[in-house]
Amino acid sequence: MTETTAAVEREEAEAPKVVAKGKSVKERHRRKIRRRRVAKPENAEPATVAEAEARKMRTVNPAQYYRQNLGQLGFGDPEHALVQTIKELMDNSLDACELMGVLPEITVKLTATAKQYEVVTNKTKEGSVRTFPIFRVSVEDNGCGVVRGKVAKCFGKVLYGSKFFSFKQSRGQQGLGVHAAIIYAQLTSLEPVTIVTKTETDLMGYKVVLKIDTEKNAPVVVSAEEAPFERLHGTRIELMVAGAYTDKVEAFLREVSLANPHADLKFKVKASTTKDQRTLHLKRATEVLPPTPREIKPHLLSMEPGALLEMKSNDACCKSAKQFLTKHFVRISDGKALQLLKTAKLPPNASPKEIDVEALLKAARGGDIMRPPLDVLSPIGEGALEASLRRIFPDAEFIGATAREPWSYRGVPFQVEVGCAYGGQAVINDCDSVREGVFKSRVIRLGNKCPLIYDSKDCLLYKVVKEINWRNYKLSQDEGNLPYAPIVMVVSLISTKVPYIVPGKFAVAYHEEIREQLRLALQTLGRMIYAFISHRQRQEHEMHRQSIFQIYAKEVAKDLSILAGRDEQVLLERLLESVKHKKPKKAAELIAKPPIILAVPTTPSPTVPTISEPPAMQAAPAIQIEAEVAPQKKAEKKPQHTLDSYLGR
Ligand SMILES: Nc1ncnc2c1ncn2[C@@H]1O[C@H](COP(=O)(O)OP(=O)(O)OP(=O)(O)O)[C@@H](O)[C@H]1O
Ligand SMILES: [Mg+2]
Repeated sequence: MTETTAAVEREEAEAPKVVAKGKSVKERHRRKIRRRRVAKPENAEPATVAEAEARKMRTVNPAQYYRQNLGQLGFGDPEHALVQTIKELMDNSLDACELMGVLPEITVKLTATAKQYEVVTNKTKEGSVRTFPIFRVSVEDNGCGVVRGKVAKCFGKVLYGSKFFSFKQSRGQQGLGVHAAIIYAQLTSLEPVTIVTKTETDLMGYKVVLKIDTEKNAPVVVSAEEAPFERLHGTRIELMVAGAYTDKVEAFLREVSLANPHADLKFKVKASTTKDQRTLHLKRATEVLPPTPREIKPHLLSMEPGALLEMKSNDACCKSAKQFLTKHFVRISDGKALQLLKTAKLPPNASPKEIDVEALLKAARGGDIMRPPLDVLSPIGEGALEASLRRIFPDAEFIGATAREPWSYRGVPFQVEVGCAYGGQAVINDCDSVREGVFKSRVIRLGNKCPLIYDSKDCLLYKVVKEINWRNYKLSQDEGNLPYAPIVMVVSLISTKVPYIVPGKFAVAYHEEIREQLRLALQTLGRMIYAFISHRQRQEHEMHRQSIFQIYAKEVAKDLSILAGRDEQVLLERLLESVKHKKPKKAAELIAKPPIILAVPTTPSPTVPTISEPPAMQAAPAIQIEAEVAPQKKAEKKPQHTLDSYLGR
C-alpha cells in the first residue's frame, strides 16, 4: 500500500458518518479526496500553511498519547517507574481480592537480569549514556482472576477496564494503570507481558503473552494457552522493566501493608545479578476483612452540565424526565423528581431530551436533595490502622488513630481517617533528621488505601497537615510547615471517586469539604498527641522528683536511724517507698497505719524523740511528713523536689 493510499484510507475512516439524502456524506467526502489526489499529488508543495498542517492532522489514540506522556502516569524515569510498576500491579491485585471477598495474599518478585537499558543523559562524567538494569517484576494474587475472553483486552487496550464507569470505592479508577506499565516495559525491554489467570470455576490457569500495539491501541497476542496456576483463583502478571532499585521500593511496600492491614505481602528481591535474593514478609495485622464497598448511582449534584446534557441526549431507556431522574440518580424519589421538575418548569411527562439541564441543576442545588448514602465505603478502621502502625513501628512510644464520619463533596461520598506513630527507633529511621536530635515528621498519604508516592506538595492531604497549628498540641513547628517531632502521620482518604489532580494519581485536588473533615480529624489526633506528651512529661517530672529525693534519702535515713534508733536500711526502704506515691497519703490512711517509721522505744531515751511528744525534729517520719507538708507546698508554691520541702523546713 502506498503512503498516499494509506492517507486516503485514513481520511476516509475519519470522515463523518452522517447519512444525507442521495449519496452518503462519506461517499461524497471520499470522492472529494480522490479528486484532490488526482489534481495534486502527495509530494506537491502545500499551497498554504493551513494545508501543510491539514496534511499532518490525524486522530491520536490513548495508547499513543500515553506512550509519549508516560511521565504523567509515573513512568517518567527508571527510578520512579520501578515503584510505579509494582504499585499498579499491586493495586489491581488488592482490588481483585476485595471483589472476591478474600484476605489478600500477594507475592511480589523483583529480579535484576543481565539485560541493560541505556539512556542518554548529561549527568554522568564518563559519557552521556547511563545504564539501568532490566528487572523481571512479577506480582501474583489470589483475587477473582479474569475470564479468558477478556484477558487480551483487559491488558492490551489502553483505557479498557471494569472500574471507570462504576461508582464504587476501588483503588483503580481509570483503566490506565497496568497498561502504562506494559507500555513502559515494551518500550524499555522490548519484552511482552505474561499474564496467567484463573477464575474460581477454571480447572487450569490461562496464560497469555501479549504486547500493546500502541498505533492501534489493540492487543497483539503472542501466545495463549492453558498453564498450571497453583492457587484456586487469582492472577500473576510478569513484566520486564528498566529500573533503579532504591529504598523507596521497600518503603512503598511497607506503606501498602500499613494501608491494608488485612493483606499478607511477600516480597522477594534480587536487587542486582551479584546479590542474593532477600525476602521481606509483611504479615497481616488483622484477620478481619474490611467491609465490602457498595456501588451506588451518581448524585445529581456531582454532575457537570455538559455531562448531564450528553447523558439525557443519549438516553434510550427512559420514557419520561421523571423516570430519567429516578432511574439514573441516587436519592431521587418520585416525589423529589416531581418537585425538581416543577421548579425547573418542566412537565413530569416530558421526554428526557426536553430537559433543560441548567434549570434542572439549579433546581437541584436549591432542592435540598439528601446526601448520597454514606455507608457504601470501606474504611481501614481505627483499630486496624492502629494495629497496622504497631506492626510497622513496633517500638513506637505512642500510636493513635481516629476517623471522621463519612461525608460528601459535590455529591460524592468520602471519609477521612488519620493515625500516627510517635517516637521509637523505627519512626526515627523514617523521619528526616534536621539536626542532632531534631527530626522532621513524615506524612504517609493514602487514596483509597493506596500510598500516594509523588507530588506531595500539591496534595490537599499534605497541605492540611501543614495548615494545622501543631504547637497547640505540644509539638514544635515553623508556621505552615510539618512539625519537628519524631512522628509518622498517616492521612487516608477513601471515596467512590478520589479527586486526583493527574491520571497518575499522585495528589488529591482541593475540595472544601474534604479539607474541613481532614482538619477536624487531625485536630482530634493532635489532642491525642497532646494527652500523650502531657502524660509523659508528668512521668518525667515525677522521675526527676524521685531521683532528687534518692540523692538525699541515704543521708536522711542515716540521720533518722541515729535519732530514732531504728535500722538504717529499713528506714531507707520506707523513705524510697513513700516517695514513689506522688499524691500525699491522706491523714486517715496514715493514722490507720501502724507507727512504722519512728517506732517509740519502750524506754524513752532523753536523746530520742517519741511520736506522742514530738520535738521539732519529729518532722522526720516520712509518711507523716508527706501528709502534712504536701498541701502546704501547694499553697506556698514551693518547689516539690527539695529536701527542705520534704522535711517541712
Ligand atoms: N490482578 C488482576 N485481577 C483481576 N483483574 C485485573 C487484574 N489486573 C487488572 N485487571 C483488570 O484489568 C483492568 C485494567 O486494569 P488497569 O490497572 O489498567 O485499570 P484500572 O485498575 O481499572 O484503573 P487505574 O488506571 O486507575 O489503575 C481492571 O479494571 C481490571 O478489570
Ligand atoms: Mg489499576
